[in-house]
Amino acid sequence: MERIKQEIEELRAEIRKHNHYYFVLDQPQISDREYDQLMQQLLQLEEEYPELVTSNSPTQRVGGEAIDQFRKVEHQIPLLSLAKSFSEQELYDFDQRVQKLAGEKVEYVVELKIDGLSTSVIYEEGKLVQAATRGNGMIGEDITHNIRTIKSIPLYLDLELDLEVRGEVFMLKDRFLELNQRREEEGLDTFSNPRNAAAGSVRQLDPKVAARRPLDIFIYDSTYIEGQDFESHSDRLDYLEELGFKVNSARKVCSEIEGVVEYCQEWTTKRDELNYEIDGIVIKVNRLNLREQLGRTAKHPRWAMAYKFPAQQQETEVKDIEVTVGRTGALTPTAVLDSVFLDGSEVSRATLHNQDEIERKGVKIGDRVIVQKAGDIIPEVVRVLADKRTGEEVEFNLPQECPVCGAEAVRLEGEAVIRCTGGACPAQLREEILHFVKRNAMNIEGVGPALIDQLLENDLVEDVADLYYLKQEQLAALERMGQKSSQNVIIAIEESKNNKLSRLLFGLGIRHVGSRVAQVLATNYQQLDQLITATVEELMEIDEIGPKIAQSIVAYFKQEQNLEIIEKLRQAGVNLEADFKQKEASLEGKKFVLTGKLADFTRSEAKGAITELGGRVTSSVSGQTDYLVVGDNPGSKYDKAQKLGVEILNEEDFKDLIDSE
Ligand code: IVH
Repeated sequence: MERIKQEIEELRAEIRKHNHYYFVLDQPQISDREYDQLMQQLLQLEEEYPELVTSNSPTQRVGGEAIDQFRKVEHQIPLLSLAKSFSEQELYDFDQRVQKLAGEKVEYVVELKIDGLSTSVIYEEGKLVQAATRGNGMIGEDITHNIRTIKSIPLYLDLELDLEVRGEVFMLKDRFLELNQRREEEGLDTFSNPRNAAAGSVRQLDPKVAARRPLDIFIYDSTYIEGQDFESHSDRLDYLEELGFKVNSARKVCSEIEGVVEYCQEWTTKRDELNYEIDGIVIKVNRLNLREQLGRTAKHPRWAMAYKFPAQQQETEVKDIEVTVGRTGALTPTAVLDSVFLDGSEVSRATLHNQDEIERKGVKIGDRVIVQKAGDIIPEVVRVLADKRTGEEVEFNLPQECPVCGAEAVRLEGEAVIRCTGGACPAQLREEILHFVKRNAMNIEGVGPALIDQLLENDLVEDVADLYYLKQEQLAALERMGQKSSQNVIIAIEESKNNKLSRLLFGLGIRHVGSRVAQVLATNYQQLDQLITATVEELMEIDEIGPKIAQSIVAYFKQEQNLEIIEKLRQAGVNLEADFKQKEASLEGKKFVLTGKLADFTRSEAKGAITELGGRVTSSVSGQTDYLVVGDNPGSKYDKAQKLGVEILNEEDFKDLIDSE
């Protein structure tokens, strides 16, 4: 038996080695046939000796059955997004800002910005244990079963390390084309671009389906690697590469911002030569302690920046100009276009922003225009091709009254937008409710645009709080509703009463209060009533709150109408309190070492609890260690800690320590 076990292990090691050559380094050392033979041998042995099959065998990438739904995963360290720059000047500005904060010249790493999906992958003792999507940055979805099918990600490492890597899941262009061709032959819908194909594949409930999709992953960062304290991001990437991860080789260290700009220019022209899509360049401060010093804003780290390539442009015709009314009552003109393809998707509408923009660009109905995606997302009209005019074009002016409720539309001094003044404008209310029920706000499933329209048409709601006073009979009486779905809606509304305060704060739609700011407010104020009475000065004492946000919050709670809504929410039993106590960085600077198995925490949960309170986890006990947390079967770290007189905590002590904070 021992001999068989050894033979199996040798085969696995051999296959892993060739996986690495083929999928990570792109340098196969043996033919496909030889590789298949090795795999066949292993499969045969594992079939004969099923007791020797382990979850990290190369045969087990597609392990397990399909799941019913994705489990939510809380990221211990949020996945932030990057601030974007669209010009070289913005890169120089970024460098100036960073140098000013650093007080010295700064070295950067530049990398390709892969156009895929960001993913966190966690290893415990060298074994891949969890992979999750970015989600809203704080909470993602567990996609371990699908990430395991990606051949370029090691299922286990040669070293038994705890670590987290972050990377981008993507699809090679040629493999994407093959996939689409295969789908076409099978009569299935094709994907519009590699990114959508990758996204659709990662979100499969059945790993067998994901395994047939040619997914791949580049690793671009790590949040912790047990026992390693790197000075620079580039050293860390090199180490990740040594560990067997696929790290993009086009990365480069630049000691000057000029080098960064050159790199951006170079890839702007060379990007099409790559067999994967990139949508820009990422510029990162190389020194890791400087990163810490620079910190972050609510959404972005201050130590990095994305340089976006100039947008693709297309010529088309403005067939009409429509006006929509937004949540804040703003009347926005939108050009209806002859559809064109831009950066991989079909575009048939483009924003014209406001009347000033229409006039500045001189857009008329019937004009030939150039369109592009602003910031790569929202299509906009760049300019009019005036020499293609026929004389048939029609000038456009925003109406003086709201196209939805007929109330006067006015332009306040100093503002570019024209707003509807109708207090009860259904268009505004519709947008407010849509925002309130959104997934990252109150998350009320079943209340979508169609139902909201029906509620408004039947005068069943006049503000968001009215949702909580709806009766099932009222809903069931609406067209296309029925008993079952009306009951589900009532249950979803009822459940939302227990949401965290931060969700409500975001859902209220206070200007400049996004979901991150809402969380900051909930943590700092604990109760909505305390926030209502906060002053601008008080709010601005909070790290991430600037004057614009503070003023907007105070203005919101001054309005009688808004206070009435809150009163109605309170009467309905909606939670107005934060359910967690503000955690201070009470373990700031404390060094922890973990040993043995804890009953109530996985390694990464214990680490998360420590780092959340400002502590650090290191791998080996030294005179610098403050606490050793001991679980079942502790190793030699226990003896060493005793010798050095390091404070030793059992699981109960550890819980007391983190709970008391
Ligand atoms: S670093 C703090 N490096 O771009 C954020 N991101 O908005 C650190 N991306 O969703 C991200 N290639 O998934 C980084 N080489 C790269 C990247 C990269 C693609 C994605 C990432 C994130 C988005 C940033």
